[in-house]
Amino acid sequence: AVKRLAAPDIAARKGKTPIVCLTAYTAPTADILDDHCDLLLVGDSVGMVVHGLPNTVGVTLEMMILHGQAVMRGSRRAMVVVDMPFGSYEGSPETAYDNAARIMKETGAQAVKVEAGPAVVENIDYLVKRGIPVMGHVGLRPQSVLVDGGFKAKGRHNEERQRILDEAHATAEAGAFAIVVEGVAEGLARDITAAVPVPTIGIGASAGCDGQILVTDDMLGLFDWTPKFVRRYADLRNEISQAVARYAEDVRERRFPGPAEIYFAKAG
Ligand code: KIV
Ligand code: NA
Repeated sequence: AVKRLAAPDIAARKGKTPIVCLTAYTAPTADILDDHCDLLLVGDSVGMVVHGLPNTVGVTLEMMILHGQAVMRGSRRAMVVVDMPFGSYEGSPETAYDNAARIMKETGAQAVKVEAGPAVVENIDYLVKRGIPVMGHVGLRPQSVLVDGGFKAKGRHNEERQRILDEAHATAEAGAFAIVVEGVAEGLARDITAAVPVPTIGIGASAGCDGQILVTDDMLGLFDWTPKFVRRYADLRNEISQAVARYAEDVRERRFPGPAEIYFAKAG
């Protein structure tokens, strides 16, 4: 069997070769991505991307565990990190630990990720001290969308820049093995990357980070709208639409199924 990457392997890549990450929610996608990625994130973006929710606030622990199990079954080599959903880790350290431990036991993933605001730093320390590797997430924190009033780039003013830099520091000091940096200007991404001893994984945060992550469905072009920071490497939405249009026409014209696609009765 192939050895799966784990938190210390990713942490050791700081300042070395870039860390390649993508989101994964299903076994077949994880199977494809595993050949190319160092880390697969079972992001709570699954709520919006797969389940049609307006934001990630409605994502449950049960959803994250089901998708985490699927991604573990589909992958072999990449490290798998499961997002802790809104409401599962921001309260007492004990509750955060119980929920994180459930994710680790029921999925077999190598780590959890939390959106690391100031209120959560203490809980990161609590989890890491009890054997749960934790990835942080600073800058644009999608679970705070209802406080922020939308998904907006962060750290464009000095006061906010300093606050985000402080949060990244505190997250690393609490023991996180890596930090996602989302939706910040290039200068801040570089400052955070230079300031913390663990790898930064950027999304909408410039090439100044130690690694990159995108939502897989975004980079594959499954949506007709994508944010500025996404580069589209495929146009799957059109490919799927054209394939389904051909299928629909074949069914309506009775061209499908054809002789090669049906069963024949055996003689006798
Ligand atoms: O939920 C998610 O997909 C994420 C990444 C985009 C970092 O948190
Ligand atoms: Na997330």
